Amino acid sequence: MQSVLIIGQSGQVSTYLQERLSGDYRVDVAGRDRVDLADRRSIKDALKSFSPTLIVNPAAFTAVDSAEDESEMAFAVNAEAVAEIAEYCAENNTPLIHFSTDYVFDGEADSAYTEEDVPAPTGVYGASKLAGEQAIIDSDAPAIILRTSWVYSNVGKNFYKTMLSLSESRTELSVVGDQIGSPTFAGSIADACGALITKVLDQGEIASEQKGVYNLSCEGETSWAGFAQAIFTAHGKSKMVVKSITTAEYPTPTKRPAYSVLSGAKLANVFGVELPDWHKGLEDCVNETR
Ligand SMILES: NC(=O)c1ccc[n+]([C@@H]2O[C@H](COP(=O)([O-])OP(=O)(O)OC[C@H]3O[C@@H](n4cnc5c(N)ncnc54)[C@H](OP(=O)(O)O)[C@@H]3O)[C@@H](O)[C@H]2O)c1
Repeated sequence: MQSVLIIGQSGQVSTYLQERLSGDYRVDVAGRDRVDLADRRSIKDALKSFSPTLIVNPAAFTAVDSAEDESEMAFAVNAEAVAEIAEYCAENNTPLIHFSTDYVFDGEADSAYTEEDVPAPTGVYGASKLAGEQAIIDSDAPAIILRTSWVYSNVGKNFYKTMLSLSESRTELSVVGDQIGSPTFAGSIADACGALITKVLDQGEIASEQKGVYNLSCEGETSWAGFAQAIFTAHGKSKMVVKSITTAEYPTPTKRPAYSVLSGAKLANVFGVELPDWHKGLEDCVNETR
């Protein structure tokens, strides 16, 4: 039976991918105890012990602000470990699906980023993820890199859960209104990634002209303040007041892109895989029983 190895145990995307794929394939999940991305020398042997048909890597050092002080670890996990995974995949001709981020861009654009746009990360996290992308491309592994954005779900730590938790004790919240992006439900990512995996496994390979970077985020755009308001509306918390503030009023160690909407046209054209509008993703997240 074809086997899919997911790296990372309890992350948002990993959790939803495990659920999405488990009916169709043998799914192996490598937590840190089996594949520790901070220990690059152990990675290839660890991967070999699974001998997977295909590898998905949603694992990453994702603490955007902490990455500024923990640059070495961010690059170890997001770039050096990824280089090892990619080398394993190149040597064994194993298809790899790897996740990256909208934070590879500086956010100066005013229309949706395509895969042709030149990345220019503004912080360590984005730079480390971009280095991971480059390592995959340099390895010539049969790989697809999926850039996603503003991931949320009912598991782990994320903006959606933070807003709901704060609304238990507050009636008004100040939320940044001048950063624009596409909130993307981890369940929508898993559905799209599952469809992509099925295509790749049915084809038996990632053809050389299919290799490379693809955007994968929900359609449409909003600000963090707009997303917060939609979360409260969807949960019937109509009394919650969202006050839109500027990025300057909410300083963070890492500068975030002001605009990071990603065009999904390439993924739709090459693989026929499309994600729903972010409102639909939110509805699915709210209606999910977990
Ligand atoms: N979250 C976002 O808003 C966002 C936005 C754009 C792109 N992305 C990208 O999308 C992907 C999935 O993000 P996510 O939100 O699902 O991430 P997440 O919930 O923060 O989960 C991160 C995963 O990485 C694993 N991990 C971290 N360090 C590790 C190490 N040293 N060895 C092994 N595993 C390690 C964690 O393992 P444990 O299970 O052991 O903790 C966890 O499973 C990532 O590539 C991320 O860069 C995320």
